[in-house]
Amino acid sequence: MKISIIGCGFVGLITAVGFASKGNLVKAIDIDQARLSEIRKGRVPFYEEGVEKLLKTYLNQENLSLSSSLEDVDESEVVFICVQTPPQLNGAIDLKILMTAVKDLADVFKKSAKSRIVVIRSTVIPGTTENMIMPIFQQNGNLNTEIVFNPEFLREGSALSDFLNPDRIVIGTNSAKAGKVISKLYTPFNAPIIITTPSTAELSKYASNALLATLISYSNEIAKICERTPNTDVEDVLGIVHLDRRFKILNGEIKADIVSYLKAGCGFGGSCLPKDLSALIAYAQSIKEEPFLLKAVAHVNKYQPKRLVKMVLIALGGLENKKIAVLGVAFKGGTDDLRDSPGLKIVDELLEGKAKVTIFDPLVVSLQLQRYKDKGVIIASSLKEAIEDVDVCIITSNASEFRSINKYLRNKKLIIIDGRRILKSSKKIKIAKTYYAIGLPKERIYIS
Ligand code: UGA
Repeated sequence: MKISIIGCGFVGLITAVGFASKGNLVKAIDIDQARLSEIRKGRVPFYEEGVEKLLKTYLNQENLSLSSSLEDVDESEVVFICVQTPPQLNGAIDLKILMTAVKDLADVFKKSAKSRIVVIRSTVIPGTTENMIMPIFQQNGNLNTEIVFNPEFLREGSALSDFLNPDRIVIGTNSAKAGKVISKLYTPFNAPIIITTPSTAELSKYASNALLATLISYSNEIAKICERTPNTDVEDVLGIVHLDRRFKILNGEIKADIVSYLKAGCGFGGSCLPKDLSALIAYAQSIKEEPFLLKAVAHVNKYQPKRLVKMVLIALGGLENKKIAVLGVAFKGGTDDLRDSPGLKIVDELLEGKAKVTIFDPLVVSLQLQRYKDKGVIIASSLKEAIEDVDVCIITSNASEFRSINKYLRNKKLIIIDGRRILKSSKKIKIAKTYYAIGLPKERIYIS
């Protein structure tokens, strides 16, 4: 099938190489010339496992081509819109970029009577597809345009594999014909296909991310209770919760993946969970429903990074001039994404307290941290270098490198604050002079 993808960001580029890999002829379009020229050279403008290899392959085989002009959608039967929908200051989503792309596309469609399907893949609140996007094509564009909302469920770090092995394909449309065409496009991916209303599809994306956020904040709430309850450890408490057979699949033999979100840490971050949670809260309030639970989930998350800073304060008695390494500033391991990262929130608080901060993250390059370099932060190039001369190190991401911290500590006296509970108990006692961790009670680290 001939497909166009508008927007070569994270979702757009993965959608483009993913469909090219199934033999479709894909045209990827972006208005950012600098981004396009990088992609043209086979370079992916963000870190994501496996994407660069496929990008080079399909550019060479010519079933993926690039353009900066919307006019180039002309040949396509299906046009995906994958532009960003960032948050506004009040948490609601900002549709400006999406609506500009939609209007520009409708103008292009005016020029011919060809029938096409437009698929919205940008995350939008319920009603957007039907009430805002459809009317633009109906009034200004070509009446032969059918509209679909098709949410993405791609995790950074495993996005390509998630695209190629989806757990569900959701097709929100009022058009039986569009439902059929998009189902056919996804048939080679062997996943359950749900055809539903656009609003159900839109809300299902928010409901999915809000559930993940809720599991994390629930775990962090249990961790807070453990910190004040002698002889407990959140890892043990939630470890027992995980054994409930209802969290298992295949007759209880395999733990369901979702259990990994039932883990205490320094809070959720990234470009999706925080933004989608705020947008869902704002949407609920706009329809006069007070989302008490969702607001509590956001509240717990806001304070979680601060709890780690409090642990440092308790361990050292103050922050001024203390040498502190923050390990892992991307929002999780396997990515270089700094958006809404709990690690950087911790760095900001430490700097406010006049601490001397060193940062190390295996995937984040020094250039991304220029703003912090300008403030005097040291950017270390290895874990060994980061912890060489510091009083405390705070682990804020689950990057696998940090599990081997004990290798570098033999004779060292270092306070470790494990914000991700990644160190196993047998090791943690051996390696650190003092070990503090989320969800681990210690008379000295009771936090209010
Ligand atoms: C999330 C969802 O997982 C995807 O299904 C969704 O499509 C995507 O948002 C989106 O809206 O586009 P992502 O933000 O890449 O994907 O990250 P996750 O891996 O889910 O991580 C989100 C937060 O959960 C992070 O803070 C991470 O540290 C935490 N997390 C992640 C866990 O606590 N446990 C895990 O097993 C994985």
